[in-house]
Amino acid sequence: MAPVARLTPTSLQPVSPALALLSDVAAHLAAGGPIEDALHKVLELLRRALTAGDCAIWALAPAGLTRAWGVGDGATTDTEISALLEAGELSNNRIVLARLIAGERLLGVLVMRVDRSLDSEERIVLATIADLLAPAIANAEHAQQMAVEVRLRTQQIEEQRRFTEKIIDSLPVGLYVIDREYRIHAWNRKRETGIQGVSREEAIGRTIFEILHRQPAELLRGEFDEVFATGKISTFQMESSATGDLRTFRISKIPMRVDDMNVTHVITIGEDMTDWRQAQDRIAQAEKLAAIGQLAAGVMHEVNNPLATIGACAESMSLRLEERGADETLRQGFTDYLRIIDTEVHRCKRIIDGLLDFSRPKAATKVAVDVNAVLEETLFLLKHHERFKRMSIVRELDRETTPLAHGNAEQLIQVFMALLLNAMDALNGRGAILVRTRRGRPGEEPVVVEIADEGHGIPRAEMTKIFEPFYTSKPPGRGTGLGLSICYSIVADHDGRIEVDSHLGKGTTFRVLLPAAHTEGTA
Ligand SMILES: Nc1ncnc2c1ncn2[C@@H]1O[C@H](COP(=O)(O)OP(=O)(O)OP(=O)(O)O)[C@@H](O)[C@H]1O
Ligand SMILES: [Mg+2]
Repeated sequence: MAPVARLTPTSLQPVSPALALLSDVAAHLAAGGPIEDALHKVLELLRRALTAGDCAIWALAPAGLTRAWGVGDGATTDTEISALLEAGELSNNRIVLARLIAGERLLGVLVMRVDRSLDSEERIVLATIADLLAPAIANAEHAQQMAVEVRLRTQQIEEQRRFTEKIIDSLPVGLYVIDREYRIHAWNRKRETGIQGVSREEAIGRTIFEILHRQPAELLRGEFDEVFATGKISTFQMESSATGDLRTFRISKIPMRVDDMNVTHVITIGEDMTDWRQAQDRIAQAEKLAAIGQLAAGVMHEVNNPLATIGACAESMSLRLEERGADETLRQGFTDYLRIIDTEVHRCKRIIDGLLDFSRPKAATKVAVDVNAVLEETLFLLKHHERFKRMSIVRELDRETTPLAHGNAEQLIQVFMALLLNAMDALNGRGAILVRTRRGRPGEEPVVVEIADEGHGIPRAEMTKIFEPFYTSKPPGRGTGLGLSICYSIVADHDGRIEVDSHLGKGTTFRVLLPAAHTEGTA
């Protein structure tokens, strides 16, 4: 410790209290802990040992001298200290200074307020203490700067982390990241929500097999291992009914390289594709129907004319038979054949008319229609139907809040009639049909008509086929399979849509959703 060498052996005796002070100071500085505390203790020691007034350390800040640490009342001013320093003096009759120099740099001064002049030993002690303090202060300054920098960097990193977390939390997909030990490192908000949601706290640090314990671990491991091994994105679709209804997810497993070399993590993203898939199915269905419609329209024109000719021929043949007065048995046979021809021709014409209804571009004028009135009209027409008479109809018609629909009453009668006849067929003589109207809920069109039966229901596999022309499950001669396809095209032409809910053995609900009329008024 070089500065202590300023004390000469001969001066050692009288300065032993000063030496004790120095060693106390050195001990305080070496003790570690907050530098402020150590400096306060040193200043206190100085004050007591040298019986000075206040003792302070003034730091050389960019704006000039400022008091950094002190004991006492701190009455000395920086102008007084600066004046002394400028004059190259170390004391006046009020204060004594010792420069704090670390390396080449003047850090500040140690200032003591005195009412007497210090003797030479005291000045040496003071200078030595200043020499001891200077590196300690320089270190403290450095440590403080470092601490500020570390705090700043930590803050930046924390902000960055929170920002990244917000990004992955804002994604409308489920996302998690695992490492090579299959431990979870990230788990986004979407994965926390829903029936199968697991909180982030619970998931982070655990293995994926512990968290996704419903999925077969071996299968899951295989999926991750493939991405670790190949370094390629793997995408597949998965169906899950964990939330109650069947939903389709697109799962992507994406390799991630922390060191830009080997795959260190795998990011898994799960997107709910159910709505998209249903929309795709609807588009495909509409396109298919449109194509069938075009084809049918072409064929129908070709078939209609020969049919008309056959019908006319059959009719004139039966007239001729009447005129000629043929042999009785021959006549009976011919009449039977001709009646069969006539019935079948009519049946063909019915099918053709139906198909043309389905395929012809609809130009029916649409006005504001009260669907309640249209339903009543349909039920009135059906009242005369032999089998319908035996059915019990439950009406839940909401006349208060259901808006008027934008539509064509005749066409809508056709739709409701087809749905009611189907319901009747499904009931097979037993049970009731519920006819309901209501205002559309959010996500639905404004006008909703429901026709629900307690019949045999529709098997899942048949659901996509029922709107196709000629699809029928009814015995030959009973159904043409055109009812629903005509409904579909009429409702589509109304810018509405038809939904079906069906449970085997329990019943079926057909829901017709229609846009509201733009203007007030009834059909
Ligand atoms: N309410 C319902 N309950 C059960 N199955 C139904 C219901 N409505 C329709 N279906 C099924 O959808 C098929 C197609 O119906 P669609 O109305 O198009 O033809 P259809 O009733 O068989 O014949 P059409 O109506 O031309 O006389 C039916 O054969 C039946 O299998
Ligand atoms: Mg039908």
